[in-house]
Amino acid sequence: MNEMTKISHLGEAAQAFLSRAGKLLIDGQWVASASGKTFDAIDPATESVICQLAAGEKEDVDRAVKAARRAFDDSAWSRMRPVERERLMLKLADLIEHNAEELAQLESLDNGKLVFFARIVDVQGTVDFFRYMAGWATKIEGKTLDVSLGMPGEEYQAYTLRQPVGVVGQIVPWNFPLAMATWKLAPALAVGCTCVLKPAEQTSLTALRLGELILEAGFPPGVVNIVTGFGETAGAALTEHPDVDKIAFTGSTEVGKLIGKTAMNSLKRVSLELGGKSPVIVAADADVETAVAGAANAIFFNSGQVCTAGSRLYVEHKLFDKVVEGVANVAKSIKLGAGHDPSSQMGPVVSQEQMDRVLGYIEKGRAEGGEAVAGGARHGNQGYFVQPTVFTGLGSDSTLIREEIFGPVVVATPYKSVDEIAAEANNTTYGLAASVWTNNLSLAHRLTRRIKAGTVWVNTHNVVDPNLPFGGMKQSGIGRENGAAAIELYTELKTVVMKVG
Ligand code: NAI
Ligand code: MG
Repeated sequence: MNEMTKISHLGEAAQAFLSRAGKLLIDGQWVASASGKTFDAIDPATESVICQLAAGEKEDVDRAVKAARRAFDDSAWSRMRPVERERLMLKLADLIEHNAEELAQLESLDNGKLVFFARIVDVQGTVDFFRYMAGWATKIEGKTLDVSLGMPGEEYQAYTLRQPVGVVGQIVPWNFPLAMATWKLAPALAVGCTCVLKPAEQTSLTALRLGELILEAGFPPGVVNIVTGFGETAGAALTEHPDVDKIAFTGSTEVGKLIGKTAMNSLKRVSLELGGKSPVIVAADADVETAVAGAANAIFFNSGQVCTAGSRLYVEHKLFDKVVEGVANVAKSIKLGAGHDPSSQMGPVVSQEQMDRVLGYIEKGRAEGGEAVAGGARHGNQGYFVQPTVFTGLGSDSTLIREEIFGPVVVATPYKSVDEIAAEANNTTYGLAASVWTNNLSLAHRLTRRIKAGTVWVNTHNVVDPNLPFGGMKQSGIGRENGAAAIELYTELKTVVMKVG
């Protein structure tokens, strides 16, 4: 299939996968796109082509949705016992674990992230996530309910059933490709939905490898379909498809709004996990060393391409200079390099488009009067590397404080009082996450209650877990993924009322 030049740092398994990648998974079969169109998978560390992938479009999406619909109605899936669904998911988790190194290498190659993080965050996180969600398959429950109305003497028995919402379209981004696919697929499969997954065009490789493992685990054909391709074609076709019951999306707020509007045309269920501009608030009593390490990690992890990245750093004025100096020193010390190189401490951003976007923001920061006290430029001239950057001197209405950058760029601002910082933290259209760094217990509680965000961390940042609800307030999204909340997202509540006397 793919004419491959050998990539010397890749293991054999990953190399072999690349030579067979490039098809769509529809109804249990690997097929070419109907149009025959392809697009390139690019290595962001070298800008070279990894392989060609199938550019799925409307016709492919339609075939995938039909397969998912048939699989949803088919007794092999719809009447499968919950313990059997659980067993399949556990088997899949074992297979992912068994192929972990290959998946980590592919993720690092395709996205640019450090292979070290791909192993422990992306791939191990995926294994844990499937195992956690597998347990839900056997624990879905409704309630019995008392009924007061009715004529005297009439009696009713009422209860609720939670049933799978049906065929789910799932559109995921490129920052944690395998993990984001898993956050979508695992709860849907646990409750008995069927899926059409559209990976991000920048990073489709691990989703395709996951598709192979899904077949190997023994999921019936059509339960999971994977259509690679572009947002405006494949993604839009999935959103518009009348036979899709629910759309689950993670990505930009701009596209999230579009998807939400389109979903309303047929009143599809929709859950959206969108952008953020998460504040990191360091109080004057915080331990400087801890706060510096925490604030640096909050923005620089995954090259800043994290929806919960701590991109607004607020430090109580007494500590401001020390903390900014500390974070700037971390930024200056970070060694940029390809994800597979064990000496690299930060990889490139995902694409030329993303690098240009981030560099554009850096330029804007300077133009608006900010000072880059660390970084502030591209690194090297090959690969999409952006220096970790720390800005100061920007006001609350500046572009860099207001807009999501999605790169390793933080803006630091001093503050004076708790009241001021609560208002400032909430002075954003987003509401995804925040962190507070303090050892003052009552301050921690006062701030966590006042900050409008789906997750607030105290003395830590970016801790996510399959058991913890995750999602955004305001323009950061609709709905909560993970935990019991995810089971609600993928089920409909049915009320059953029986007259018993
Ligand atoms: P995007 O929102 O365009 O892409 C995310 C996913 O949506 C991809 O799978 C893409 O193919 C799909 N998509 C794009 N347009 C679509 C459409 N019209 N209909 C259906 N699906 C569509 O994000 P993009 O362009 O890659 O990045 C732009 C900015 O978005 C980033 O700079 C960042 O600020 C933000 N972003 C936020 C993410 C998050 O996790 N909150 C993840 C990725 C991007
Ligand atoms: Mg886009």
